[in-house]
Amino acid sequence: MSPIDQYLADHRAKFEDDLCRLLAIPSVSADGRHRDDVRRCALLLEEHFRSIGLAAETIKTEGHPIVLAHSPPVAGAPRVLVYGHYDVQPPDPLEEWISPPFEPTRRDGNIYARGATDDKGQMLTHVKSAQAWLATERSLPVQLTFLIEGEEEVGSPHLDKLLEGGYGDELLKRLACDVVVISDTSQFAPGQPAITYGLRGIAYFEVRLTGPRQDLHSGTFGGAVTNPAVALARMMAALIDDKGRVQIPGFYDDVLPLTDSERAQMSGLPFSERSFMESIGVDGLSGERGFSTLERRWARPTFDINGLTSGYQGEGAKTVLPARARAKFSFRLVPEQDPDRIAAALEAMLRSLCPPGIKMELASTHAAPGVVVPLDSPYMTAAAQAIEHGFGRPPVFIREGGSIPVVTAFREKLGVDTLLLGWGLDDDNTHSPNEKFCLADFHRGIKTSAYLWKALGRIKPGK
Ligand code: BES
Ligand code: MN
Ligand code: MN
Repeated sequence: MSPIDQYLADHRAKFEDDLCRLLAIPSVSADGRHRDDVRRCALLLEEHFRSIGLAAETIKTEGHPIVLAHSPPVAGAPRVLVYGHYDVQPPDPLEEWISPPFEPTRRDGNIYARGATDDKGQMLTHVKSAQAWLATERSLPVQLTFLIEGEEEVGSPHLDKLLEGGYGDELLKRLACDVVVISDTSQFAPGQPAITYGLRGIAYFEVRLTGPRQDLHSGTFGGAVTNPAVALARMMAALIDDKGRVQIPGFYDDVLPLTDSERAQMSGLPFSERSFMESIGVDGLSGERGFSTLERRWARPTFDINGLTSGYQGEGAKTVLPARARAKFSFRLVPEQDPDRIAAALEAMLRSLCPPGIKMELASTHAAPGVVVPLDSPYMTAAAQAIEHGFGRPPVFIREGGSIPVVTAFREKLGVDTLLLGWGLDDDNTHSPNEKFCLADFHRGIKTSAYLWKALGRIKPGK
Protein backbone atom coordinates (compact mmCIF):
# COMPACT_ATOMS: atom_id res chain seq x y z
CA MET A 1 0.00 0.00 0.00
CA SER A 2 1.26 3.49 -0.84
CA PRO A 3 1.92 5.83 2.09
CA ILE A 4 -1.09 7.93 1.02
CA ASP A 5 -3.44 4.95 0.85
CA GLN A 6 -2.12 3.86 4.25
CA TYR A 7 -2.78 7.33 5.64
CA LEU A 8 -6.34 7.31 4.25
CA ALA A 9 -6.98 3.86 5.73
CA ASP A 10 -5.65 4.93 9.14
CA HIS A 11 -7.65 8.16 9.26
CA ARG A 12 -11.14 7.04 8.27
CA ALA A 13 -12.67 7.57 11.71
CA LYS A 14 -10.82 10.86 12.15
CA PHE A 15 -12.09 12.16 8.79
CA GLU A 16 -15.67 11.26 9.71
CA ASP A 17 -15.30 13.12 13.00
CA ASP A 18 -14.03 16.19 11.11
CA LEU A 19 -17.12 16.01 8.91
CA CYS A 20 -19.38 15.75 11.95
CA ARG A 21 -17.87 18.90 13.43
CA LEU A 22 -18.75 20.82 10.25
CA LEU A 23 -22.22 19.32 10.08
CA ALA A 24 -23.03 20.26 13.67
CA ILE A 25 -23.02 23.97 12.73
CA PRO A 26 -26.38 25.17 11.34
CA SER A 27 -24.90 27.35 8.58
CA VAL A 28 -28.26 28.17 6.97
CA SER A 29 -27.48 31.03 4.59
CA ALA A 30 -31.10 31.98 3.83
CA ASP A 31 -32.03 32.62 7.46
CA GLY A 32 -30.76 35.80 9.16
CA ARG A 33 -31.08 34.15 12.57
CA HIS A 34 -28.19 31.87 11.61
CA ARG A 35 -25.80 34.64 10.61
CA ASP A 36 -23.39 33.92 13.47
CA ASP A 37 -23.55 30.17 12.82
CA VAL A 38 -22.60 30.73 9.18
CA ARG A 39 -19.66 32.84 10.31
CA ARG A 40 -18.64 30.24 12.90
CA CYS A 41 -18.63 27.60 10.17
CA ALA A 42 -16.38 29.76 7.96
CA LEU A 43 -13.94 30.25 10.82
CA LEU A 44 -13.88 26.54 11.62
CA LEU A 45 -13.04 25.80 7.99
CA GLU A 46 -10.34 28.45 7.88
CA GLU A 47 -8.77 27.01 11.02
CA HIS A 48 -9.06 23.53 9.57
CA PHE A 49 -7.24 24.52 6.37
CA ARG A 50 -4.46 26.00 8.45
CA SER A 51 -4.21 22.88 10.59
CA ILE A 52 -3.50 20.72 7.53
CA GLY A 53 -0.76 23.09 6.35
CA LEU A 54 -2.46 25.51 3.92
CA ALA A 55 -2.41 29.29 3.96
CA ALA A 56 -6.01 30.30 4.71
CA GLU A 57 -8.14 33.34 5.25
CA THR A 58 -11.76 34.31 5.63
CA ILE A 59 -12.91 37.10 3.33
CA LYS A 60 -15.64 39.31 4.71
CA THR A 61 -18.41 40.35 2.32
CA GLU A 62 -21.63 42.32 2.81
CA GLY A 63 -23.21 38.87 3.11
CA HIS A 64 -21.65 35.65 4.36
CA PRO A 65 -17.87 35.13 4.35
CA ILE A 66 -15.86 33.32 1.68
CA VAL A 67 -13.04 31.02 2.80
CA LEU A 68 -9.92 30.93 0.66
CA ALA A 69 -6.94 28.58 1.10
CA HIS A 70 -3.80 27.98 -0.93
CA SER A 71 -1.09 25.40 -1.26
CA PRO A 72 2.33 26.48 -2.63
CA PRO A 73 2.88 26.84 -6.41
CA VAL A 74 4.20 23.76 -8.26
CA ALA A 75 6.33 24.71 -11.27
CA GLY A 76 5.03 23.31 -14.57
CA ALA A 77 1.92 21.76 -13.01
CA PRO A 78 -1.68 22.96 -13.34
CA ARG A 79 -3.23 25.32 -10.84
CA VAL A 80 -6.47 23.76 -9.64
CA LEU A 81 -9.31 25.71 -8.06
CA VAL A 82 -11.56 23.64 -5.81
CA TYR A 83 -14.93 25.29 -5.33
CA GLY A 84 -17.49 24.22 -2.74
CA HIS A 85 -20.02 25.68 -0.34
CA TYR A 86 -20.32 25.41 3.43
CA ASP A 87 -23.80 26.96 3.61
CA VAL A 88 -26.86 24.73 3.72
CA GLN A 89 -30.57 24.90 2.98
CA PRO A 90 -33.07 25.46 5.82
CA PRO A 91 -33.84 22.15 7.59
CA ASP A 92 -37.62 22.44 7.80
CA PRO A 93 -39.97 20.57 8.12
CA LEU A 94 -38.13 19.62 11.33
CA GLU A 95 -40.68 17.03 12.50
CA GLU A 96 -39.89 14.81 9.50
CA TRP A 97 -36.24 14.26 10.47
CA ILE A 98 -35.50 10.90 12.12
CA SER A 99 -32.44 12.37 13.85
CA PRO A 100 -32.12 16.17 14.25
CA PRO A 101 -30.60 17.96 11.22
CA PHE A 102 -27.63 19.41 13.09
CA GLU A 103 -26.83 16.35 15.20
CA PRO A 104 -24.95 14.27 12.62
CA THR A 105 -25.86 10.62 13.08
CA ARG A 106 -24.38 7.46 11.53
CA ARG A 107 -27.08 5.01 10.44
CA ASP A 108 -27.00 2.14 7.91
CA GLY A 109 -23.70 3.18 6.37
CA ASN A 110 -24.73 6.81 5.92
CA ILE A 111 -24.19 10.02 7.80
CA TYR A 112 -27.46 11.91 8.30
CA ALA A 113 -27.44 15.72 8.68
CA ARG A 114 -28.36 18.85 6.72
CA GLY A 115 -25.39 19.50 4.43
CA ALA A 116 -24.08 15.91 4.61
CA THR A 117 -23.92 15.63 0.81
CA ASP A 118 -24.83 19.23 -0.20
CA ASP A 119 -22.08 20.24 0.15
CA LYS A 120 -20.04 19.86 3.31
CA GLY A 121 -19.35 16.13 2.93
CA GLN A 122 -18.51 16.30 -0.76
CA MET A 123 -16.41 19.43 -0.42
CA LEU A 124 -14.46 17.98 2.51
CA THR A 125 -13.23 15.02 0.41
CA HIS A 126 -10.83 17.39 -1.38
CA VAL A 127 -9.58 18.88 1.88
CA LYS A 128 -8.90 15.44 3.33
CA SER A 129 -7.04 14.32 0.19
CA ALA A 130 -4.85 17.43 0.37
CA GLN A 131 -4.22 16.65 4.03
CA ALA A 132 -3.11 13.13 3.12
CA TRP A 133 -0.64 14.43 0.51
CA LEU A 134 0.79 17.05 2.82
CA ALA A 135 1.10 14.65 5.74
CA THR A 136 2.83 11.90 3.77
CA GLU A 137 4.68 13.65 0.91
CA ARG A 138 5.07 17.16 2.37
CA SER A 139 3.80 18.62 -0.92
CA LEU A 140 1.06 18.32 -3.55
CA PRO A 141 1.47 17.44 -7.26
CA VAL A 142 -0.61 20.51 -8.22
CA GLN A 143 -1.18 23.93 -6.74
CA LEU A 144 -4.55 23.91 -5.01
CA THR A 145 -6.72 26.90 -4.23
CA PHE A 146 -9.83 26.24 -2.19
CA LEU A 147 -12.69 28.69 -2.67
CA ILE A 148 -15.47 27.73 -0.29
CA GLU A 149 -18.41 30.10 -0.13
CA GLY A 150 -21.31 30.56 2.29
CA GLU A 151 -24.00 31.79 -0.11
CA GLU A 152 -24.41 29.14 -2.80
CA GLU A 153 -27.91 28.26 -1.66
CA VAL A 154 -28.99 31.89 -1.98
CA GLY A 155 -27.53 32.50 -5.44
CA SER A 156 -23.88 33.42 -4.70
CA PRO A 157 -24.37 37.23 -4.81
CA HIS A 158 -21.01 38.10 -3.24
CA LEU A 159 -18.98 35.44 -4.97
CA ASP A 160 -20.21 36.96 -8.22
CA LYS A 161 -18.98 40.31 -6.97
CA LEU A 162 -15.59 38.78 -6.10
CA LEU A 163 -15.30 37.27 -9.59
CA GLU A 164 -16.18 40.61 -11.13
CA GLY A 165 -13.29 42.25 -9.27
CA GLY A 166 -15.56 43.94 -6.71
CA TYR A 167 -13.19 43.02 -3.88
CA GLY A 168 -10.08 44.11 -5.74
CA ASP A 169 -7.78 42.72 -8.40
CA GLU A 170 -5.40 41.20 -5.89
CA LEU A 171 -8.04 38.74 -4.67
CA LEU A 172 -9.15 37.99 -8.21
CA LYS A 173 -5.56 37.24 -9.29
CA ARG A 174 -5.31 34.66 -6.54
CA LEU A 175 -8.11 32.71 -8.20
CA ALA A 176 -6.21 32.37 -11.48
CA CYS A 177 -6.16 28.68 -12.39
CA ASP A 178 -6.12 26.13 -15.22
CA VAL A 179 -9.13 24.07 -14.20
CA VAL A 180 -11.89 24.08 -11.57
CA VAL A 181 -13.00 21.02 -9.62
CA ILE A 182 -16.43 20.87 -7.97
CA SER A 183 -17.97 17.98 -6.08
CA ASP A 184 -21.57 19.07 -5.59
CA THR A 185 -23.44 16.72 -7.94
CA SER A 186 -24.37 13.03 -7.97
CA GLN A 187 -23.32 9.64 -9.21
CA PHE A 188 -25.63 8.12 -11.81
CA ALA A 189 -26.69 5.34 -9.43
CA PRO A 190 -25.28 3.52 -6.40
CA GLY A 191 -22.10 1.84 -7.63
CA GLN A 192 -22.12 3.76 -10.91
CA PRO A 193 -20.00 6.92 -10.63
CA ALA A 194 -20.46 9.72 -13.12
CA ILE A 195 -18.93 12.86 -14.48
CA THR A 196 -21.53 15.56 -15.05
CA TYR A 197 -20.94 17.56 -18.22
CA GLY A 198 -24.08 19.71 -18.17
CA LEU A 199 -26.22 21.52 -15.62
CA ARG A 200 -29.42 23.47 -16.05
CA GLY A 201 -29.66 27.16 -15.29
CA ILE A 202 -32.43 28.84 -13.40
CA ALA A 203 -34.72 31.87 -13.46
CA TYR A 204 -36.55 32.23 -10.14
CA PHE A 205 -39.34 34.70 -9.39
CA GLU A 206 -41.72 35.84 -6.73
CA VAL A 207 -45.09 37.34 -7.67
CA ARG A 208 -47.43 39.18 -5.31
CA LEU A 209 -51.01 40.01 -6.24
CA THR A 210 -52.97 42.50 -4.19
CA GLY A 211 -56.72 42.99 -4.50
CA PRO A 212 -59.05 44.71 -2.00
CA ARG A 213 -57.73 46.60 1.06
CA GLN A 214 -58.54 43.65 3.31
CA ASP A 215 -60.09 40.17 3.23
CA LEU A 216 -63.80 40.27 2.32
CA HIS A 217 -66.93 38.11 2.80
CA SER A 218 -67.00 35.96 -0.33
CA GLY A 219 -70.82 35.98 -0.34
CA THR A 220 -71.21 39.74 -0.14
CA PHE A 221 -68.37 40.55 -2.58
CA GLY A 222 -67.59 37.38 -4.54
CA GLY A 223 -68.37 37.50 -8.26
CA ALA A 224 -67.90 41.26 -8.54
CA VAL A 225 -64.50 41.76 -6.90
CA THR A 226 -61.49 40.04 -8.51
CA ASN A 227 -60.21 37.27 -6.27
CA PRO A 228 -56.37 37.43 -6.13
CA ALA A 229 -56.08 33.69 -5.50
CA VAL A 230 -58.15 32.87 -8.59
CA ALA A 231 -56.21 35.43 -10.61
CA LEU A 232 -52.93 33.89 -9.46
CA ALA A 233 -54.07 30.34 -10.22
CA ARG A 234 -55.10 31.39 -13.74
CA MET A 235 -51.87 33.27 -14.35
CA MET A 236 -49.70 30.39 -13.14
CA ALA A 237 -51.72 27.85 -15.14
CA ALA A 238 -51.30 29.96 -18.28
CA LEU A 239 -47.52 29.54 -18.07
CA ILE A 240 -47.59 25.87 -19.11
CA ASP A 241 -49.88 23.82 -21.35
CA ASP A 242 -51.07 20.23 -21.02
CA LYS A 243 -48.24 18.99 -23.24
CA GLY A 244 -45.66 20.31 -20.77
CA ARG A 245 -44.68 23.29 -22.97
CA VAL A 246 -43.89 26.61 -21.35
CA GLN A 247 -46.11 29.30 -22.91
CA ILE A 248 -43.91 32.40 -22.54
CA PRO A 249 -43.45 33.84 -26.04
CA GLY A 250 -39.99 33.02 -27.38
CA PHE A 251 -39.16 30.71 -24.45
CA TYR A 252 -37.79 27.94 -26.70
CA ASP A 253 -36.15 30.19 -29.31
CA ASP A 254 -32.57 29.74 -28.10
CA VAL A 255 -32.82 26.24 -26.60
CA LEU A 256 -29.80 24.18 -27.58
CA PRO A 257 -31.37 20.98 -28.93
CA LEU A 258 -30.12 17.55 -27.88
CA THR A 259 -28.04 15.92 -30.60
CA ASP A 260 -28.96 12.46 -31.86
CA SER A 261 -25.80 10.98 -30.41
CA GLU A 262 -26.48 12.56 -27.02
CA ARG A 263 -30.04 11.17 -27.04
CA ALA A 264 -28.68 7.75 -27.96
CA GLN A 265 -26.10 7.95 -25.20
CA MET A 266 -28.75 8.94 -22.62
CA SER A 267 -31.15 6.22 -23.65
CA GLY A 268 -28.29 3.73 -23.31
CA LEU A 269 -27.88 4.50 -19.59
CA PRO A 270 -29.34 1.82 -17.32
CA PHE A 271 -32.36 3.79 -16.08
CA SER A 272 -35.54 2.21 -14.76
CA GLU A 273 -38.61 4.42 -14.79
CA ARG A 274 -40.29 2.05 -12.33
CA SER A 275 -37.56 2.28 -9.67
CA PHE A 276 -37.37 6.03 -10.25
CA MET A 277 -41.10 6.34 -9.49
CA GLU A 278 -40.79 4.04 -6.48
CA SER A 279 -37.88 6.04 -5.09
CA ILE A 280 -40.02 9.19 -4.90
CA GLY A 281 -43.38 7.57 -4.16
CA VAL A 282 -45.42 8.41 -7.26
CA ASP A 283 -47.45 6.17 -9.56
CA GLY A 284 -47.04 8.16 -12.76
CA LEU A 285 -44.86 10.77 -14.45
CA SER A 286 -45.53 13.69 -16.77
CA GLY A 287 -43.52 16.26 -18.67
CA GLU A 288 -42.76 17.73 -22.05
CA ARG A 289 -44.15 15.49 -24.76
CA GLY A 290 -41.60 13.80 -27.01
CA PHE A 291 -38.80 13.52 -24.46
CA SER A 292 -37.65 10.76 -22.12
CA THR A 293 -37.54 11.16 -18.35
CA LEU A 294 -33.77 11.66 -18.32
CA GLU A 295 -33.98 14.17 -21.16
CA ARG A 296 -36.73 16.07 -19.32
CA ARG A 297 -34.71 16.15 -16.11
CA TRP A 298 -31.33 17.01 -17.60
CA ALA A 299 -31.63 18.80 -20.90
CA ARG A 300 -35.08 20.36 -21.30
CA PRO A 301 -36.32 23.56 -19.67
CA THR A 302 -39.16 23.42 -17.14
CA PHE A 303 -41.60 25.44 -15.09
CA ASP A 304 -42.23 24.75 -11.40
CA ILE A 305 -44.25 26.45 -8.71
CA ASN A 306 -42.11 26.36 -5.57
CA GLY A 307 -44.59 27.93 -3.15
CA LEU A 308 -48.18 29.12 -3.36
CA THR A 309 -49.88 31.10 -0.61
CA SER A 310 -53.26 32.75 -0.24
CA GLY A 311 -56.40 32.80 1.86
CA TYR A 312 -57.52 30.69 4.78
CA GLN A 313 -55.40 27.64 5.66
CA GLY A 314 -56.76 26.85 9.14
CA GLU A 315 -59.18 24.19 10.32
CA GLY A 316 -62.61 23.93 8.68
CA ALA A 317 -63.95 26.30 6.04
CA LYS A 318 -63.95 30.08 5.91
CA THR A 319 -65.92 31.88 3.21
CA VAL A 320 -63.42 34.55 2.48
CA LEU A 321 -62.24 36.47 -0.56
CA PRO A 322 -58.55 36.93 0.25
CA ALA A 323 -56.95 40.32 -0.22
CA ARG A 324 -53.60 38.92 -1.35
CA ALA A 325 -52.00 35.96 -3.10
CA ARG A 326 -48.39 35.18 -3.81
CA ALA A 327 -46.26 32.55 -5.46
CA LYS A 328 -42.61 31.62 -5.76
CA PHE A 329 -41.94 29.93 -9.09
CA SER A 330 -39.01 29.10 -11.32
CA PHE A 331 -37.86 27.89 -14.69
CA ARG A 332 -34.92 25.54 -15.13
CA LEU A 333 -33.07 26.65 -18.23
CA VAL A 334 -30.84 24.85 -20.68
CA PRO A 335 -27.76 26.15 -22.51
CA GLU A 336 -28.25 29.17 -24.81
CA GLN A 337 -31.47 30.32 -23.10
CA ASP A 338 -30.98 33.84 -21.77
CA PRO A 339 -32.46 34.32 -18.27
CA ASP A 340 -32.81 38.10 -18.71
CA ARG A 341 -34.72 37.80 -21.98
CA ILE A 342 -36.99 35.22 -20.39
CA ALA A 343 -37.59 37.46 -17.38
CA ALA A 344 -38.63 40.33 -19.65
CA ALA A 345 -40.99 38.14 -21.73
CA LEU A 346 -42.45 36.64 -18.56
CA GLU A 347 -43.17 40.04 -17.05
CA ALA A 348 -44.91 41.24 -20.22
CA MET A 349 -47.01 38.07 -20.33
CA LEU A 350 -48.04 38.22 -16.66
CA ARG A 351 -48.91 41.94 -16.93
CA SER A 352 -51.16 41.20 -19.89
CA LEU A 353 -52.87 38.40 -17.93
CA CYS A 354 -53.32 40.38 -14.73
CA PRO A 355 -57.05 41.19 -14.43
CA PRO A 356 -58.60 44.55 -13.40
CA GLY A 357 -58.69 45.19 -9.67
CA ILE A 358 -55.36 43.45 -9.02
CA LYS A 359 -52.00 45.06 -8.45
CA MET A 360 -49.05 42.86 -9.48
CA GLU A 361 -45.48 42.99 -8.19
CA LEU A 362 -42.88 40.69 -9.74
CA ALA A 363 -39.35 40.20 -8.39
CA SER A 364 -36.55 38.07 -9.76
CA THR A 365 -34.44 36.22 -7.17
CA HIS A 366 -32.02 34.05 -9.19
CA ALA A 367 -30.94 34.19 -12.82
CA ALA A 368 -28.29 31.86 -14.22
CA PRO A 369 -27.86 30.25 -17.63
CA GLY A 370 -27.37 26.50 -18.15
CA VAL A 371 -23.95 25.05 -18.93
CA VAL A 372 -22.26 22.23 -20.79
CA VAL A 373 -18.53 21.64 -20.33
CA PRO A 374 -16.16 20.11 -22.91
CA LEU A 375 -15.59 16.36 -22.67
CA ASP A 376 -12.41 16.27 -24.74
CA SER A 377 -9.85 17.88 -22.43
CA PRO A 378 -6.86 16.17 -20.79
CA TYR A 379 -8.32 17.28 -17.44
CA MET A 380 -11.49 15.30 -18.16
CA THR A 381 -9.42 12.22 -19.03
CA ALA A 382 -7.48 12.54 -15.77
CA ALA A 383 -10.73 12.89 -13.81
CA ALA A 384 -12.17 9.74 -15.41
CA GLN A 385 -9.00 7.80 -14.52
CA ALA A 386 -9.13 9.06 -10.94
CA ILE A 387 -12.77 7.99 -10.56
CA GLU A 388 -12.03 4.55 -11.92
CA HIS A 389 -9.20 4.30 -9.40
CA GLY A 390 -11.29 5.50 -6.44
CA PHE A 391 -14.63 3.84 -7.21
CA GLY A 392 -13.38 0.71 -8.96
CA ARG A 393 -15.48 1.47 -12.01
CA PRO A 394 -15.17 3.97 -14.87
CA PRO A 395 -17.63 6.89 -14.78
CA VAL A 396 -20.54 7.39 -17.15
CA PHE A 397 -21.03 10.88 -18.56
CA ILE A 398 -24.30 12.50 -17.58
CA ARG A 399 -26.06 15.84 -17.39
CA GLU A 400 -28.03 16.89 -14.31
CA GLY A 401 -31.02 19.11 -13.73
CA GLY A 402 -29.79 21.22 -10.80
CA SER A 403 -27.86 24.47 -11.06
CA ILE A 404 -24.45 25.66 -9.93
CA PRO A 405 -24.49 29.20 -11.34
CA VAL A 406 -20.85 29.88 -10.55
CA VAL A 407 -19.72 27.37 -13.22
CA THR A 408 -20.69 29.92 -15.87
CA ALA A 409 -18.93 32.68 -13.97
CA PHE A 410 -15.71 30.61 -13.83
CA ARG A 411 -15.87 30.24 -17.61
CA GLU A 412 -16.63 33.91 -18.24
CA LYS A 413 -14.51 35.62 -15.59
CA LEU A 414 -11.60 33.20 -15.16
CA GLY A 415 -11.67 31.61 -18.64
CA VAL A 416 -11.58 28.06 -17.30
CA ASP A 417 -13.74 24.95 -17.47
CA THR A 418 -15.04 22.96 -14.53
CA LEU A 419 -14.86 19.26 -13.74
CA LEU A 420 -18.13 18.29 -12.02
CA LEU A 421 -17.21 15.18 -10.05
CA GLY A 422 -20.11 14.22 -7.80
CA TRP A 423 -20.03 11.62 -5.06
CA GLY A 424 -23.70 12.03 -4.04
CA LEU A 425 -26.77 9.96 -4.91
CA ASP A 426 -30.15 11.09 -6.22
CA ASP A 427 -31.82 9.71 -3.08
CA ASP A 428 -29.60 11.69 -0.67
CA ASN A 429 -32.57 13.95 0.20
CA THR A 430 -30.82 17.20 -0.62
CA HIS A 431 -32.93 20.23 0.35
CA SER A 432 -35.36 17.84 2.13
CA PRO A 433 -35.66 16.02 5.46
CA ASN A 434 -33.14 13.28 6.34
CA GLU A 435 -30.35 14.43 4.05
CA LYS A 436 -27.60 11.83 4.01
CA PHE A 437 -24.25 10.98 2.49
CA CYS A 438 -22.99 7.41 2.06
CA LEU A 439 -19.85 7.08 4.19
CA ALA A 440 -18.27 4.59 1.78
CA ASP A 441 -18.70 7.21 -0.97
CA PHE A 442 -17.15 9.85 1.31
CA HIS A 443 -14.01 7.70 1.57
CA ARG A 444 -14.09 6.75 -2.13
CA GLY A 445 -14.33 10.45 -2.92
CA ILE A 446 -11.25 11.17 -0.81
CA LYS A 447 -9.32 8.37 -2.50
CA THR A 448 -10.40 9.61 -5.95
CA SER A 449 -9.41 13.14 -5.08
CA ALA A 450 -5.97 12.09 -3.81
CA TYR A 451 -5.38 10.28 -7.10
CA LEU A 452 -6.82 13.17 -9.13
CA TRP A 453 -4.12 15.56 -7.88
CA LYS A 454 -1.51 13.10 -9.11
CA ALA A 455 -3.20 12.57 -12.49
CA LEU A 456 -3.70 16.31 -13.02
CA GLY A 457 -0.09 16.92 -12.00
CA ARG A 458 1.12 15.06 -15.10
CA ILE A 459 -0.64 17.53 -17.42
CA LYS A 460 1.32 20.45 -18.84
CA PRO A 461 -1.00 23.44 -18.50
CA GLY A 462 -1.38 26.23 -21.02
CA LYS A 463 -3.07 26.37 -24.39
N1 BES B 1 -25.67 21.06 -5.28
C1 BES B 1 -26.78 21.79 -5.80
C2 BES B 1 -26.83 21.79 -7.33
C3 BES B 1 -27.24 20.50 -7.97
C4 BES B 1 -28.43 19.90 -7.59
C5 BES B 1 -26.49 19.96 -8.95
C6 BES B 1 -28.82 18.72 -8.19
C7 BES B 1 -26.87 18.78 -9.55
C8 BES B 1 -28.03 18.16 -9.17
C9 BES B 1 -26.72 23.23 -5.31
O1 BES B 1 -26.37 23.32 -3.95
C10 BES B 1 -28.09 23.84 -5.43
O2 BES B 1 -28.97 23.46 -4.71
N2 BES B 1 -28.25 24.81 -6.32
C11 BES B 1 -29.44 25.58 -6.43
C12 BES B 1 -29.08 26.88 -7.11
C13 BES B 1 -29.98 28.03 -6.82
C14 BES B 1 -30.09 28.34 -5.36
C15 BES B 1 -29.49 29.26 -7.56
C16 BES B 1 -30.47 24.83 -7.24
O3 BES B 1 -30.15 24.06 -8.15
O4 BES B 1 -31.66 24.99 -6.93
MN1 MN C 1 -24.71 22.20 -3.51
MN1 MN D 1 -28.17 22.84 -2.72
